[in-house]
Amino acid sequence: MMDTPNTASTFDVEALRGQFPALQQTVNGKPLVYLDNAATTQKPLCVIDAVNQFYRLDNANIHRGVHALSARATEHYEAAREQIRHSLNAAAVEEIVFVRGTTEAINLVAASFGQRLKAGDEILISALEHHANIVPWHMLRERIGIVLKVIPVTDLGALDLSALPALITSRTRLVAVNHVSNALGTINPVQEICAQAHAHGVPVLVDGAQGLPHGLVDVQAMGCDFYAMSGHKAFGPSGVGALYARRPWLDELPPYQGGGDMIETVCFDAVRYAPPPAKFEAGTPNIEGAIGLKAALAWHAGLDWPSITAYEAQLLAAATAGLKEIPGLRIIGTAACKVPVVSFVIAGCHPHDIGTLLDAMGIAVRTGQHCAMPVLAQLGAPSGTVRASFAFYNNTDEVTALIRAVHRAHALLS
Ligand code: ALA
Repeated sequence: MMDTPNTASTFDVEALRGQFPALQQTVNGKPLVYLDNAATTQKPLCVIDAVNQFYRLDNANIHRGVHALSARATEHYEAAREQIRHSLNAAAVEEIVFVRGTTEAINLVAASFGQRLKAGDEILISALEHHANIVPWHMLRERIGIVLKVIPVTDLGALDLSALPALITSRTRLVAVNHVSNALGTINPVQEICAQAHAHGVPVLVDGAQGLPHGLVDVQAMGCDFYAMSGHKAFGPSGVGALYARRPWLDELPPYQGGGDMIETVCFDAVRYAPPPAKFEAGTPNIEGAIGLKAALAWHAGLDWPSITAYEAQLLAAATAGLKEIPGLRIIGTAACKVPVVSFVIAGCHPHDIGTLLDAMGIAVRTGQHCAMPVLAQLGAPSGTVRASFAFYNNTDEVTALIRAVHRAHALLS
């Protein structure tokens, strides 16, 4: 995300909450406290309305029809691509490929870029990665014998960049790291990683699933070659996301899947592919998802980000301070730069039991390993953690409710 000055919070969180119907409900007889935003975010009315409007009026397939509805659907879909370009500050709209989400974006790069790789070539990931940025590379290791190397993580849950120079070798073909850790909330120094990798001529893929929800992203300033994002983590629909790739990569890399809409000509002896991004978008896509994502990102880009960044830091500080007071509670991931995610364990209490008791009190958190088994094992939480992940629509009453509820759960389980 872009750096923003630490100004006092001025935005109106209650007015913002009013735009989210799902936040206005009770669960188990208690007002819902939704703290599972790293898993998925709730959707503002403008997103719900955009999808509704598409199905009511504009529903048609894209890029295929001469009729009015198809033309309208195509126009909305391509406007969504332009909105993603804007939100990521990509140089050109052709650099945005629609995918199902971050996982598919990384798999696209692994499948396509992977065709250039040979046994012994090295992919450098980090110990902080989500399984989505480990398993596709492991599959390439099984298939062609690439070597997977890992940037270590400190006991605080920050990347140990002092190890980076020795890890980048003449066999390194790609560095693939996350922007923000989903399990711990650590914000990684991706700009510096890009600079170091590029100094050796090595491209960088950034898993941005948890980056965009907490601020605007500038892929040009970051310097990455690939950036993967999911719509549903950024207040948009599920099943839609984007891969940003610098244009030369999209020209050079082979297609990921074959089918309609990604070709110029087909005969039984030869196929000529369409230019990017169509080359990477076989088949009918998630049109309504893209239209909902456009509404989400246009809304998100219009928010007061300096105030939101300061406000999210306040939520993180208050939750961290309150939870730390609970006897036996240990926060997993205490790096200096974090988004408002607090992952914790309590001695003698299983994370699932805590999560179940919190749910009975109306509080939604995620428990378990958060698709990040390696880092949790390293930090001494192999059975997982309780993770409270905040969005800017959470308020300080909800922080207080969480702390009280964890105190009660601890008392009940002790
Ligand atoms: N990757 C999502 C999470 O962190 C599902 O919960």
